[in-house]
Amino acid sequence: MKKMGGRVLACFVFAVFVIGVSADEQTSNTTNVLPKDSNICKLCHCKDNNVDCFDQNISTFFTKQEWSEITDLKPKNVDLSENLFVNVTVMADLSIEVLNLSRCKIERIENAAFRDLQEMRVLDLSYNKLTTANLSPHAFEGRYSAEEYKPLASMRVLNLANNDLHSLSQDLFEHLPELEELDISGNPLATFDQVTIIAISSLPMLKVLRMRSCELTKIPEKFLHTPRYLERLDLSDNLLTAVPQEIEETKNLIYLNLNQNPIVQLEMDSEDYPGFPRLRKLQELHMCNMPALKRVGPGSLAGLEQLTKLHMSFNPALSDIDPKALARPDDIGETYDWPPMKELYLQSNNLSEVDSRLISRWDLLEKVDVSDNPFLCDCSTQWMVDLLVPSVEHAGGNASLMVCQEPIEMRGYTMKHLHEIHRTMRCVDKYGNRPEKDGAILLGTLIGVLLAVPIMLGLMLLWRRGYFACIGLRAPEDVSRAFYKRAPAEDNYF
Ligand SMILES: *[C@@H]1O[C@H](CO)[C@@H](O)[C@H](O)[C@H]1NC(C)=O
Ligand SMILES: *[C@@H]1O[C@H](CO)[C@@H](O)[C@H](O)[C@H]1NC(C)=O
Ligand SMILES: *[C@@H]1O[C@H](CO)[C@@H](O)[C@H](O)[C@H]1NC(C)=O
Ligand SMILES: *[C@@H]1O[C@H](CO)[C@@H](O)[C@H](O)[C@H]1NC(C)=O
Ligand SMILES: *[C@@H]1O[C@H](CO)[C@@H](O)[C@H](O)[C@H]1NC(C)=O
Ligand SMILES: *[C@@H]1O[C@H](CO)[C@@H](O)[C@H](O)[C@H]1NC(C)=O
Repeated sequence: MKKMGGRVLACFVFAVFVIGVSADEQTSNTTNVLPKDSNICKLCHCKDNNVDCFDQNISTFFTKQEWSEITDLKPKNVDLSENLFVNVTVMADLSIEVLNLSRCKIERIENAAFRDLQEMRVLDLSYNKLTTANLSPHAFEGRYSAEEYKPLASMRVLNLANNDLHSLSQDLFEHLPELEELDISGNPLATFDQVTIIAISSLPMLKVLRMRSCELTKIPEKFLHTPRYLERLDLSDNLLTAVPQEIEETKNLIYLNLNQNPIVQLEMDSEDYPGFPRLRKLQELHMCNMPALKRVGPGSLAGLEQLTKLHMSFNPALSDIDPKALARPDDIGETYDWPPMKELYLQSNNLSEVDSRLISRWDLLEKVDVSDNPFLCDCSTQWMVDLLVPSVEHAGGNASLMVCQEPIEMRGYTMKHLHEIHRTMRCVDKYGNRPEKDGAILLGTLIGVLLAVPIMLGLMLLWRRGYFACIGLRAPEDVSRAFYKRAPAEDNYF
């Protein structure tokens, strides 16, 4: 037994020795330059598998030779962001997984520049100067493969945001068949042309698509047909005036961001401003910072059966969310079903109330914020004081920020305070009168009537006696005489 152990140990020591020697041989071999003495590591911070060249005023991209000097470092993360180079040239065979070329001055990428980065998953080219004319599909060419056309097979995330792309070449992604995440935000795509639609439709595995600030006025038909696995879509800060019905094709969408679009309203039977189509898997919806949004009509969010997070805040004109906005008639059509809401954000809108029927179980909310709205505090919102305040506080919110705006005598009270003092609020009647003012109105009317009667009687008396003749008013007997005399001549007048 002891002998066996000894032999195993000897084997182990030998193995370690051999591996050590061969590793030594390798390091001293490839280029004769140790990574720490390489140009790249002199300029940048090389540590573990990271090469950090952030903001180093590098004005020329490293050559293939320079890149090959850091092979032994086995770099995984290379950050070249915030530099000054204009052209990206061919890189060496490296084990890079994340390459950050963001915020440089890149105008051109040499053909097959990344061909030997077979492990690259993430490529960040955001905030550069790439144009439609200069960005060629060949930039992303990989190595020969029997199954796919020279793929960069590991690539999953590509960021092209904030360049100057008016259109995407239709073959742009032909070497990126497995791409799951694409960001083309901040490019002036405006009206999508056909080639751009083809380019995006050629990404069957796409899960995340960001098109923020692309000047989009509409979403073209069939645009979202191919990426069947799309889960997250960002269309914020565009020029959409209505909820784009084409999103219906994204059957697996979980997250949708429509912030900062000039959407006016959501109304189920309106052609111009329709509500949401059925998106059975959608869980999170953002509709914030929409200056034009006024109304969310009944059933307009009912197609979102699985909605758990609704962000509808900072819409200064939004004064009307229908109590049935989220409710959908059940299969029998007798009652309604509500989505399983967990988070509700309605702060800084123009809402005078939050209707208790908007969601089914306020007590199940994990986060809720309805602060900074001009709330009406009367008997119609009593439930907010009684039930919503505890829900808000339970969900970690601050009910001190739920402040009354109307009626005037309630202005400035917080609903939290009203809850604490168990205040029962009065009803404002349908003419906008307030009962507590009725006493004063009644008294005023009474005084008016009491004063008016003697004054009228006095005036009648004076008139009968002919005191007003001087200003054209005759006593009664004169009037009747004049009337019969003049009538035929002045037909039209009467
Ligand atoms: C590796 O080293 C051997 C001998 O030490 C040499 O013959 C060979 O050319 C070197 N290879 C490279 C790629 O430098
Ligand atoms: C880059 O250049 C700017 C201006 O020329 C200078 O202020 C800055 O210190 C330089 N940064 C580095 C890391 O050399
Ligand atoms: C970048 O590449 C283009 C075309 O290959 C070339 O004309 C230009 O001089 C290069 N610019 C720099 C700064 O190297
Ligand atoms: C790339 O660098 C920029 C700026 O330094 C940073 O904002 C961005 O998150 C980085 N991208 C990746 C994918 O790490
Ligand atoms: C907010 O609502 C009130 C009445 O409900 C309306 O008079 C006012 O114009 C609205 N504010 C905006 C910015 O639309
Ligand atoms: C709630 O908001 C009020 C008013 O702004 C503030 O004074 C208070 O500190 C806040 N409470 C919490 C727990 O944040």
